[in-house]
Amino acid sequence: MRLLVSVGAGSLKKNFVRVHVRDHGDDVVVLDKLTYAGRRENLQDVEHEFVHGAIEDPRAVAEAIDGADAVVNFAAETHVDRSIAEPDAFVRTHAQGTYVLLETARARGVRYLQVSTDEVYGSIAEGSFTESSPLAPSSPYSATKAGADLLVSSYHHTFGLDTLICRGSNNYGPYQYPEKLIPLMVLNALHGDRLPVYGDGMNVRNWLFVEDFARGIGHVLEHGVPGEAYNVGGPDECPNIEVVRRVIELTGAGEGLIEYVTDRPGHDRRYSLGSEKVRALGWEAQVRFAEGVERTVAWYRDNAWWWEPIRSGEYRAYYERQYGRALS
Ligand code: DAU
Repeated sequence: MRLLVSVGAGSLKKNFVRVHVRDHGDDVVVLDKLTYAGRRENLQDVEHEFVHGAIEDPRAVAEAIDGADAVVNFAAETHVDRSIAEPDAFVRTHAQGTYVLLETARARGVRYLQVSTDEVYGSIAEGSFTESSPLAPSSPYSATKAGADLLVSSYHHTFGLDTLICRGSNNYGPYQYPEKLIPLMVLNALHGDRLPVYGDGMNVRNWLFVEDFARGIGHVLEHGVPGEAYNVGGPDECPNIEVVRRVIELTGAGEGLIEYVTDRPGHDRRYSLGSEKVRALGWEAQVRFAEGVERTVAWYRDNAWWWEPIRSGEYRAYYERQYGRALS
């Protein structure tokens, strides 16, 4: 099978491409405009073709889709805090980009999978969201992801396009850009920098190891029913402050580094996904949080070559803007 993976040089995409090339023998074309989190070196150990371009550019998409049997769109402006500071890129990538990819997939008649997020359902105090829960997004990030999901469904409903949607919970693991909670805490702890916890630290996330989500997306691509959405949730839920304490234990840092900072505006309290539907297709998460976070900390400890250029580049300015203090 030949796959077009759009926006494919981040952590999840790397894992997805590796699994498909290595385990399925697929040909993969990666289309990516290589913004701050998409890095060519993430894919240096995986055979693939690469097209440098944006998903909202019809010419780049037409070039990349040539000969593909399926499109997997990671539609990937991923960071909620950036969507609050600068929503325009989120509208462009998720709305216009998804539209261009859908149109191109429709013209070629190829299967289309949209990678989405549990955040489209909003926050839930108790219980878990199913695929038929209403969409109630809270941030520019999740609202543009929800809009893209609706557009995908409309292409199935109106044009009969063979579409699938995969909604994942919070990913973590190697190669994740250190704007996200776990890699940020790991690198700050390793450097003796403050650990900025938003609000009271009791927001709960449903943690999913990146390799499990990559396999889940592949599983849905292979076995999913056209027109359907599938939740792919992690096996464990955990309040942020416990995640931070676990990172402190694993890095040997001190609790004194914890700093409670101003909460994220509109911060969702808790996410929780029910994943029975994808389990019925035969997918199961394999990595529990305790093991995954240990593997993640070990990876960051051993791979300074990967994060050193990040901590000395654009990220440094982002960090100062976001947290009002410099990194050490
Ligand atoms: O739920 C799936 C989503 O998970 C994905 O769709 C998003 O692409 C991904 O960014 C992630 O969103 P979150 O906002 O949940 O992830 P983040 O790592 O930014 O934050 C996790 C929690 O930690 C959240 O409650 C905010 C909190 N946090 C985050 C950062 C960066 C802090 O307390 N301090 C921080 O410095």
